[in-house]
Amino acid sequence: MSDPVRPGDRGGAGVEPPADLPPSATGVGRRGRVSPAGLARSLILAAAGNRIAEAVVARYGMRLGASRFVAGETMDECVAVIRGLNREGLRCNATVLGEAVRSRADADQAVRDYQLLLARLADEQLTANVAVKLTLLGLEVGAELAEANLTQLLDLASPRQQFVRIDMEESRHVEATLGLYRRLRTGGVGNVGTVLQAYLYRTASDLESLLPLGPNLRLVKGAYRESPQVAFPRKADVDRSYVQLMERALTSSGYTAIATHDEAIIEHAIGFTRAHRIGPDRFEFQMLYGVRPQLQRSLVARGFPVLVATSFGTRWYPFFMRRLAERPANLLFLGRNLLRR
Ligand code: FDA
Repeated sequence: MSDPVRPGDRGGAGVEPPADLPPSATGVGRRGRVSPAGLARSLILAAAGNRIAEAVVARYGMRLGASRFVAGETMDECVAVIRGLNREGLRCNATVLGEAVRSRADADQAVRDYQLLLARLADEQLTANVAVKLTLLGLEVGAELAEANLTQLLDLASPRQQFVRIDMEESRHVEATLGLYRRLRTGGVGNVGTVLQAYLYRTASDLESLLPLGPNLRLVKGAYRESPQVAFPRKADVDRSYVQLMERALTSSGYTAIATHDEAIIEHAIGFTRAHRIGPDRFEFQMLYGVRPQLQRSLVARGFPVLVATSFGTRWYPFFMRRLAERPANLLFLGRNLLRR
């Protein structure tokens, strides 16, 4: 979970927080009232970082409902999913699940997992790149370790024209993540991209500072539990911020991955790219495996590039909890699966 950030300690020169900030993080609506959905989201995200809750939920296995969002516990299972999605005209992005490793040995293991994954995707000639979390590569052990590990993976991916995206995690990691991304781009690394989160006040200024690098950016709303000192607490503000960032990114020289399941935003993006004659070589839609699969296919049928993010591995708990928090109604199928046991 993200550390509470002190006022004035936002680490970037972004937009000021709204003056009428609610008293606590996500879950509190206008006038300080707690909305049931917001409260559920907040509680689920609090449990996402709890190792005891993880041990309990993991005991019940993928049958609890995680299999809807996780493309398998093994690489073989994920590769089979990717093969099927590719056949339907969907690009993929594979991620080895895991984050916040606390030892060099665990980070080294993650590097070996990604080395195998990159080799497998190339051998099978799949239309799939990879995404990686810096905390899985050891960011919380040491920034140099994560940088060295990522560089190893990029060196392996580059000769095969494989692309590596650095996921964005809690706000306390944004500075290190963007710093590393900038160093790589200014050092001439082409096969790397990262993610910007629309819920952070700082993101508009981060985007401006990255644009001269011709970046490949995935825009997301943001999935972590953040303080209202750093992130818009209200969904309407996050949605507005998303559209502004998207339009700015699309009219720049970079590549924009529009990662959302929000149909209104997707239709807005389609209208905007048409009006500004922005071709499909400059953007793609991205969605998560298991979320709005019909929408994914209908966009492909309309001729748009669509990438599905496919994650696999046994450390699915925090990822699964973030998917539940995005739509607390998902708790219903978790409940049904528990009762069915
Ligand atoms: P929103 O939450 O408004 O949802 C719009 C609609 O989509 C909902 O009404 C519902 O129909 C459907 N929907 C959304 N989430 C659902 C779910 N879990 N289950 C079922 N239906 C759902 N975040 C981050 O902080 N760092 C990152 O690196 C990434 N990476 C990333 C990659 C890709 C490819 C995607 C699509 C998303 C991410 N995210 C992320 C997650 C992102 O921040 C956000 O939490 C989710 O995409 C949900 O927000 P939407 O934009 O879909 O909109």
